[in-house]
Order: sequence, then C-alpha cells, then structure tokens
Amino acid sequence: MSEIKITFVSVDGEKSVEATARVGDNLLTIAQVNDQPLEGTCEGQMACSTCHVIVDTNDFDKLPEASEMEEDMLDLAAGVKRTSRLACQITLTQDLDGLTVRIPSESHNMQGF
Ligand code: FES
Repeated sequence: MSEIKITFVSVDGEKSVEATARVGDNLLTIAQVNDQPLEGTCEGQMACSTCHVIVDTNDFDKLPEASEMEEDMLDLAAGVKRTSRLACQITLTQDLDGLTVRIPSESHNMQGF
C-alpha cells in the first residue's frame, strides 16, 4: 500500500511534525501514534470533539464533506474554524498526500500538565 505524508502543526504554529501514513489509515490514529495532543475520547464514535483539527485551507477541499452529525459535533467544539474537522472521521486517501492540519489550542491534553 502506498505511503503518504501528513504534517501536524502545533498550537502556536512553531513546531511541525511530519508523519508517514498509509492510504486507508484514520487521521486520528496517525495523530496519536505521532504524539499529537488529541484525546479522541470517544474513539471515533462522534460523541466528543476532542479530535478536532483545523485543516490547512489548501487541503480542505480535498476532503469529503463532513456528515451532518460531524457538523453537529463541531458546533460544540471550542475554537472552531471554517476548515475544522473531526480527525476520527477522516480516512486518508492518496489524494491527501501532503495534508497539513493544525491542532487547535483548546484541545490540550489535560493529563499532559
Ligand atoms: Fe470523539 Fe472523534 S474521537 S468525535
């Protein structure tokens, strides 16, 4: 299976981590494997919004549209932007090679402090 690159940008925009993923991987899983502070409390059940990420505007249109349920959950997330998505709902495709997402400042991992 082909590999793709994903870049995670930190809250302050200063640090970025380039991760390698495979087509078919889930974005939340890749974020967690690469030590990004996304809690993903409900493990992809769309019952939390702790996997909220802000997608780079250049990449946003490459993603399939969010479902109504995802939109509803995003309404509850803090610091939502026009290009916000739930990472657990994004399955990586070849088209998403080079995807850049930012971890919003509100999604601190409480246990990390
Ligand atoms: Fe809960 Fe994504 S992990 S909505």
